[in-house]
Amino acid sequence: MSLPLFRNAAADQPIENTYSPLANTVLYHGDVNAVLPTIPDNTVSLIITSPPYNLGKDYEDRTSIDDYLRFQEGVIKQLYRVLKPTGSICWQVGNFVEDGEVYPLDILYYPIFKHLGFKLRNRIVWHFGHGLHTSKRFSGRYETVLWFTKTDNYTFNLDPVRVPSKYPGKRHYKGPNKGKLSGNPAGKNPSDVWEIVANDWETAFWDIPNVKSNHPEKTIHPCQYPVELAERCILALTEEDDWVFDPYAGVGSSIIAALAHGRKAIGSEKEADYINVTTERIHDFYNGTLKLRPIGKPVYEPTGKEKVAQMPAEWQQQLILPASQSDQESE
Ligand SMILES: C[S@@+](CC[C@H](N)C(=O)[O-])C[C@H]1O[C@@H](n2cnc3c(N)ncnc32)[C@H](O)[C@@H]1O
Repeated sequence: MSLPLFRNAAADQPIENTYSPLANTVLYHGDVNAVLPTIPDNTVSLIITSPPYNLGKDYEDRTSIDDYLRFQEGVIKQLYRVLKPTGSICWQVGNFVEDGEVYPLDILYYPIFKHLGFKLRNRIVWHFGHGLHTSKRFSGRYETVLWFTKTDNYTFNLDPVRVPSKYPGKRHYKGPNKGKLSGNPAGKNPSDVWEIVANDWETAFWDIPNVKSNHPEKTIHPCQYPVELAERCILALTEEDDWVFDPYAGVGSSIIAALAHGRKAIGSEKEADYINVTTERIHDFYNGTLKLRPIGKPVYEPTGKEKVAQMPAEWQQQLILPASQSDQESE
């Protein structure tokens, strides 16, 4: 699997600013509720997004959790309408935190989807190794992706997202297949908790590095997700030429993933700056200059020899770090 597969094929496709059945890429600048009525029923094969978490980031006004969920419920109703019967929705969320109390957004969203008739297929754990250290609870190191389908007859292609088996030479040791190889030469199911680390596929977490400053994909957006996260869902849940829609497109990570694999893409985003970055990223992708972390690239594992991996001299005598120093530090 490599990203530039469809770079040449779609390079001359214009980016449209409103939906048309003849378009290849639609980037709508404005509110998701304005673009939704322009998309016909049963059109989109995959909706993949990370909605605003109502945390008061630059791009959002913080409201009560009830008002926030009511707004999202209205959007999700429309998303159900535009989704094809064989289609899927992947809703990537973390926590809403108020006065130190944690509200896991996937738990709050689940009844909304269920009530509309969506069926949950996986609650995928996306694990990342870096982030803020907290002092009054354990530091958060994962978010989730709720994968729902509209019906029981849905697209699921396992082969493009298989990962290498840890023991490809393993054989059945009893029964009618005794002595025959038990695995699949194309690799194994990546499971709902994925880690892509060097040489250890079995104890996997979904450890696609979070998009922070050292990541090649980092842009001005404070909460981008890695292109690879969207790629996996797109490869497994859609076919070539299908429509992929990200209603909260940010800087277009889902759009890039869709175009890279020969899918058509719709994104809506209310912030002009992010629309501009997305447009630039799409052009850079087609020019071959967009920096992307290749799908499946192992997460870097320190060997222990790096200076930062060693116990500093100052701590040799004082092994316990005072809590005040460890609060809110970034790794
Ligand atoms: C969590 S970010 C998504 C980031 C995206 N996954 C990426 O990788 O770039 C949510 C985005 O939704 C946008 N947004 C919030 N409310 C919106 C609305 N009503 N309509 C359209 N976009 C909205 C925000 O500006 C923000 O960029």
